[in-house]
Amino acid sequence: MRDVLVGDYLRSRGVTRRGLLKFGAAAASWMALPPTMAQEIAAALEKARRPSVIWLPFQECTGCTESITRSESATLESLIFEAISLDYQHTLQAAAGEAAEDARRRAMEENWGKYLLAVDGSIPLGNPGYSTIAGVSNVDLLRETAKGAAAIVAIGTCAAFGGIPGASPNPTGAVAVRDLIKDKPIINVSGCPPIPVVITGVLAQYLTFGAIPDLDALGRPRAFYGQTIHDRCYRRPFYERGQFAETFDDEGARKGWCLFKLGCKGPITYNACATVKWNGGTSFPIEAGHGCIGCAEPNFWDKGGFYDALSVARWGTVGTVAAAAAAGAAVGVASAVLARRRQAQAQEEEPR
Ligand code: SF4
Ligand code: F3S
Repeated sequence: MRDVLVGDYLRSRGVTRRGLLKFGAAAASWMALPPTMAQEIAAALEKARRPSVIWLPFQECTGCTESITRSESATLESLIFEAISLDYQHTLQAAAGEAAEDARRRAMEENWGKYLLAVDGSIPLGNPGYSTIAGVSNVDLLRETAKGAAAIVAIGTCAAFGGIPGASPNPTGAVAVRDLIKDKPIINVSGCPPIPVVITGVLAQYLTFGAIPDLDALGRPRAFYGQTIHDRCYRRPFYERGQFAETFDDEGARKGWCLFKLGCKGPITYNACATVKWNGGTSFPIEAGHGCIGCAEPNFWDKGGFYDALSVARWGTVGTVAAAAAAGAAVGVASAVLARRRQAQAQEEEPR
């Protein structure tokens, strides 16, 4: 089954050429490629061989696996996930004990240098016995399995940055994949959990181009993490006008005003929630009335209360934080003035 082409596999599951083209168009837009690339992506996907993927779950809550397997209907993105040869994933696989470990070793031998290693969960360094699989510590299993991998996809904020297990006081000494593996390309797909379409989008990009996507300074694919939630938030016009909800049930909240003063971390959080959204594009936290808690960023759990407005002291000195904090502190007056000034400036600069 591993030698089957992705195109043949998808056809056997009832996906038409038109369906694949539709996915190609969506993938082109996620990757910020021109729409003309849709055909090329569909053709490349059709001809791609099913890559072997070994998935190691470490200190995690299984939310990342739930995220990708719980789509209600068989979307093309979920089929792309199925189209990989998932040779080891101890939460999903039927095999157990030695049979499961044999499957991992066999997949490694047969695909040495070519398989993708997916990891969710952080790795405890405090004591090897804190988290083991088949009697092997997480750190040893990661090091052993990473040796023959072409690349590693760190799925979720725990694998990417240490996440909740690494939150203060970090009782297990939890670290991220990138803290241990230095000689392999690592793609960080952060989020608690990550958006399923983003996970499959990264896999589809690897299948299509056979290359590591363009990454940001934190190792995240720019195609999905290139902009903040705030950059694309539909409540942004309220922020610009200085209209902030003060409580979750006041008039402003009912009118859909900006959630900055209720603790929204959208201005410093890079993720695709505001565009790709969740549950098949239905909604995302801010649309459901709750601020972004910054779940795709390192140390989000330790940077102050979820309901405290952004503070420069806790979230760094990034320009956006300062600007956002200033706007919030001035309860809209400053940002309203700023917005008016920007508008006037834009009008002055307009070609006559
Ligand atoms: Fe949207 Fe939050 Fe930015 Fe307000 S602060 S515009 S709710 S992302
Ligand atoms: Fe996480 Fe914020 Fe999206 S909390 S799910 S990055 S809106």
